[in-house]
Parts: sequence; structure tokens; C-alpha cells
Amino acid sequence: GKEEEENLSNECKGLIHSLPKEKGWRTPFIYLFQGFWCQPKEIQAIISFQKHFQARDSDVILATIPKSGTTWIKALTFAIMNRKRFTTSSKNHPLLTSNPHDLVPFFEYKLYANNQIPDLSNLPKPRLFGTHVPFASLQESIKSSSCRIIYVCRNPFDTFISSWHYINKVRPESLPPFPLEEAFNLYCKGVVGFGPFWEHMLGYWKESTERPEKVLFMKYEDMKEDTVSHLKMLANFLGVPFSIEEEEEGMIKDIAKLCSFENLKDLEVNKCGKSIKNFENKHLFRKGAVGDWVNYLSPSMVEQLSKVIEEKLGDSGLKF
Ligand code: A3P
Repeated sequence: GKEEEENLSNECKGLIHSLPKEKGWRTPFIYLFQGFWCQPKEIQAIISFQKHFQARDSDVILATIPKSGTTWIKALTFAIMNRKRFTTSSKNHPLLTSNPHDLVPFFEYKLYANNQIPDLSNLPKPRLFGTHVPFASLQESIKSSSCRIIYVCRNPFDTFISSWHYINKVRPESLPPFPLEEAFNLYCKGVVGFGPFWEHMLGYWKESTERPEKVLFMKYEDMKEDTVSHLKMLANFLGVPFSIEEEEEGMIKDIAKLCSFENLKDLEVNKCGKSIKNFENKHLFRKGAVGDWVNYLSPSMVEQLSKVIEEKLGDSGLKF
């Protein structure tokens, strides 16, 4: 793990050596930090985020566990919030030339990465941020202010398959492919970036049931099935509901189309650019479908993961 520790502060190195570790999906190890699994560089960035970020009531935080629709919710929310400035027909709509992750930066991969402490005070309101950090570990002012959180949840079967594909694309070439079975066993034990997945979901789920004005909980599958009604839900939650005129003009459908998998996938910036770490954007757009897991998981794997889901989420009211 020498390489893993490059550019880490001594404080962070010391901390990491005291944490439980498991085999990582993309790096030699991942570590259990504040109850969730992550990489050393992420831990350092999250500590800095927890120390320095100051939420404003007008902020909007987009939260997900990796591979559950982060890119999509960033695009949708950006398009809704900026629809007066950039109409969907605008030739210079930022979504046509920037990847959604550049328009809505992650706290942990971008803003607080590499020992940076960004000055976010001059960003135009409302500020949009993305994060994979579990609810319990969000910076305190996010929880205590009136800023809003949107959480997107995806069924664990598809999220697993999506993660496995992605990891194999972005894994260093010096490492052999990561076998499906091995990834699956780690996933079922909760050992996956920002997991256990059930804890991640439950943290935001619980908060959304107790404070629905604070946390909007949405599901990838529902968004796929009826994007327009979810766009309305999002706009209402964000306090910028679509007017009747906007709806009659077809604006909601146009936003859905602009942000669709098919549209984003074929844009030059998403075929060639890099927005998260040094990973190519094209890997963020694989299939964009619901239920692709049936092509990969054996009956016994389905049974095993179903059991985990029932055991961990059965009592919560959260269903897939
Ligand atoms: P698949 O691997 O199943 O295709 P994240 O954005 O959180 O990294 O999640 C990536 C998953 O969302 C991938 O799933 C990807 O194809 C899908 N995705 C990316 N953009 C999308 C969009 N605009 N609409 C729907 N799904 C999208």
C-alpha cells in the first residue's frame, strides 16, 4: 500500500493504520472509516470536508452511493435549477459541453481532494454539490441548516453489476481483472466503496421519512419509468415548481430528453473527457438500463443477495 499513501498527511497515515481493512476493489485495501468503507485519499478529503465546509440554507446536496445514478441526478438537477439561464434548446447549454460531474462537483473527489480547502463563498446561489458520504458523516452544518438533500437509490443488484463493470474499466492496467464472484462476496459483506450499501440507504431513508422537507428520496428505477413526474417532484422539492406555461411548452420533457442516457452518452465531452479523478467519462455511460443483473448473476447469487437485502432492509419499508 505504499502508493496508496502518497500525498497523505501524516495525521491521516496514522489514522489509516488504526482502521480495520479489507481487500479493495480498485486499490489494494479499503478501510472502515466512521462506519463506512473507503480509500485513504477519500478519508483525507472527507476529514477536510467535515472540518471546513459550511452549508447555506440555499445549498442543494446530491447524495448517492456510487453507480446508482449520480451522473443522471446531477444533470437533472442542474438543468432544473438553471432553466431560466439556459433553455433546453440553447446551443450553449452547459450540459452539452461539460460532464455533469464538472457542473456539480463532489466534495470528496474534487473540492476537498488533494489537501485543498476551497473558497466556496463566491459561488452563485444556489450552490449544487455532490457526495457519496453517508448521511451520518455529512458535515454538521448540512444537517443543521435548511439546505436540501436529494438522495437517489438504485436496486442493489443493478448497482452491484454497474460497480463491477466500472471498477474493471478504471482499475490500473497492472492489476488483473476483478472476478465477479470475488466482488460479489465483498458486496454482500458490505465491503464496497461507501458501503455497506444498506447502511448508506437506511441513513438517508430514515432522514427522508422524518424530515421530508429536508431529504427527498428517489429511486433510479422509478425515475426511469416516469422521468417527467420525477422532474416535477424535484422542482417542487427545490422550491422552483414548473409553471403551467413551462409544462405546456414541453419544457419538462425537454429536460428529460437533454439529460437522458442516450443523449449524454453521445456527446463529445462524455466520449472523450475526464471528470472524476483520471477516469474517462465514457465509462460513466454503460447501459443505463433496469434489470441488467439478470445477465450476470447465478440463481445462488440472486438468493444470497436477496437474503442480505431482506435481512438488512426488510423492516425499513424500503422496497425494490
Ligand atoms: P449501468 O452500469 O447499469 O449502465 P453513477 O452515475 O452513479 O456513476 O451510475 C452509473 C450508472 O448510471 C451506469 O449504470 C450508467 O450507465 C447509468 N447512467 C449514466 N447516465 C445516465 C442517465 N443520464 N440516465 C440513466 N442512467 C444513466
